[in-house]
Amino acid sequence: MTEQTLSNLLHENRRFEPPAELAANANVKADAYDEAGADREAFWAKAADRLSWAQRWDRVLDDDNPPFFKWFTGGKLNAAYNCVDRHVEAGNGDRVALHWVGEPVSDQGAESRDLTYAQLKDEVSQAANALSSLGVATGDRVAIYMPMIPEAIVTMLACARLGAPHTVVFGGFSAEALASRIEDCGAKVVVTADGGYRRGAPSALKPAVDEARSIAAGAGHTVEKVLVVRRTGQDVAWEDGVDVWWHDAVATASTEHTPEAFDAEHPLYVMYTSGTTGKPKGILHTTGGYLTQAAFTHWEVFDLKPETDVYWCTADIGWVTGHSYIVYGPLANGATQVLYEGTPDYPERGRWWRIIEEKKVTLFYTAPTAIRSFMKQGHDIPDQHDLSSLRILGSVGEPINPEAYVWYRHVIGGDRTPVVDTWWQTETGAMMISPLPGVTHAKPGSAMNPLPGVTADVVDDEGHPVPNGSGGYLVLTQPWPSMLRTIWGDDQRYIDTYWARFRDANGGQGYYFAGDGAKKDEDGDLWVLGRVDDVMNVSGHRLSTTEIESALVSHPYVAEAAVVGATDADTGQAVVAYVILREGAPESCEKELSDHVRTQIGPIAKPKRIMIVPELPKTRSGKIMRRLLRDLAEGRGVGDTTTLADSSIMELIAAGKAASTED
Ligand code: PRX
Repeated sequence: MTEQTLSNLLHENRRFEPPAELAANANVKADAYDEAGADREAFWAKAADRLSWAQRWDRVLDDDNPPFFKWFTGGKLNAAYNCVDRHVEAGNGDRVALHWVGEPVSDQGAESRDLTYAQLKDEVSQAANALSSLGVATGDRVAIYMPMIPEAIVTMLACARLGAPHTVVFGGFSAEALASRIEDCGAKVVVTADGGYRRGAPSALKPAVDEARSIAAGAGHTVEKVLVVRRTGQDVAWEDGVDVWWHDAVATASTEHTPEAFDAEHPLYVMYTSGTTGKPKGILHTTGGYLTQAAFTHWEVFDLKPETDVYWCTADIGWVTGHSYIVYGPLANGATQVLYEGTPDYPERGRWWRIIEEKKVTLFYTAPTAIRSFMKQGHDIPDQHDLSSLRILGSVGEPINPEAYVWYRHVIGGDRTPVVDTWWQTETGAMMISPLPGVTHAKPGSAMNPLPGVTADVVDDEGHPVPNGSGGYLVLTQPWPSMLRTIWGDDQRYIDTYWARFRDANGGQGYYFAGDGAKKDEDGDLWVLGRVDDVMNVSGHRLSTTEIESALVSHPYVAEAAVVGATDADTGQAVVAYVILREGAPESCEKELSDHVRTQIGPIAKPKRIMIVPELPKTRSGKIMRRLLRDLAEGRGVGDTTTLADSSIMELIAAGKAASTED
């Protein structure tokens, strides 16, 4: 964020009160803050009681071995039972769980399919039976690499039903990225599709799985089975004995499956996310605490009335938002939701607004990057649709600038709808800081306050809370139910990454460091400013500078690379790479390098700009000064170079910048 934006934020004095009717009927009212403040554990125990437990817990929070906290120990439950079966048992089997909308549109309209809770129960049971017969047992890992089709959700729930942790890999990731995740968590089975639809064309997935399987085999890891949904009808290579069609294995399986209850701390899933090193971290979430907070926050922050609301979260199931706020939270709450396969603007720019109108969506959750791109297209397109069903709008993934917030509220929400700006992370598992739609007098651009039961603060370098009106590091001061439990296979990295920065005076647990900078305004409300570490946020997607640098230096032309996230009007941040070429490399190879990053990681990591430079700015100890490169990429010119080993380097780079090409 620039100084200019920062000071604008300080002077933001617009306030939006909750609509009176919403406030009067809200699921969660202001007294929740007092209740949680008086007894946090009792508050979370009450939230856990919204779920069905096969056996009640003995202890709410086990903090005997920080930072390895446990929640609801002694309790047993099945996550899939909670998301599906119990709604059928309660007489809601006919309620639609998923209004699935496919991307293709024909003369007959959009391809679509509704699944009731009763149908979902049958399909999840069939998939659980099929996975067991493919050898998946409790504790085995299953990788999921799928488009946004109901089978993706069915597979996640089938895994949860079996107690087999899933790892969903975003369909936009490359074969290499998929392979590294499969290897890291030792996935035995991969579930995929022949392909999915993107911008009107089938886009293949199975070939990447085949390639990932062979990369993993080269590293000594065997994927035993690949279960394939036929979605696009594309030709696929087939290996008998390994590849199995979904329609052969799942559709023919029994719809009877008895879910087993697992310990509250049984692993539910591993979600890989970028950290400050080249190797993605497998964030481990477990069952009881995670489901408690995902379900509770969804009900609280979206004020969900499951009998009447139609909810839609536009995230992909490949990200944590899809896990917590498409699959586990909404389904545990018995919600009816839209699941959309495609891109926002296919086959027309108003596709999203048409879906809202047709399905009468009441609660809508999306990312600032999407809002900004719609803002650019103007209000004419949404204005052509009746969006009056909407009653709450949510935002997630990156700071939402006040202009985008106000546009969202005004143009999409018709000035009726509160906007909830929800701050959280893959690691937190569920929302942590957000307005409450029936309580908070929200300020555009501010995530406002920690939710009831959550404790956060902004601290200085020494870990002391900063006074109102100042900025610092965002920390979470006490454990919360849906917190990550560790990094898969690397407890030490878990401690070092999150708990080492702000230890308490005795070297004990201290605070969880989120990696974000934040500001407390004069009223003590929180403004999240973005990452303070080497993690970038491009279109709400987390990318590591080091990961992209490693991808670049793995190319034979590249001697050295430095990557920065530069402020970008559309995507929040954009990837800008500075590269030193090896001798003999062709002069203009920017495109080739950028394609290389695409193959190594995926299209989202592709640099927007690659600058070929003669040198990189380094301190005397050899550390690359990314701050200077960021200044340059953001057009601020050459900043303070006094700590550079060779201060003339920045001038050289700046001079070369004019010659750089935009990819
Ligand atoms: O920098 C914060 C930003 O996204 C990061 C978490 O990214 P990820 O783990 O991919 O999860 C995204 C979906 C929860 C955070 O460290 N972030 C997320 N939500 C917000 C945000 N920044 C500001 N405001 C938000 N509402």
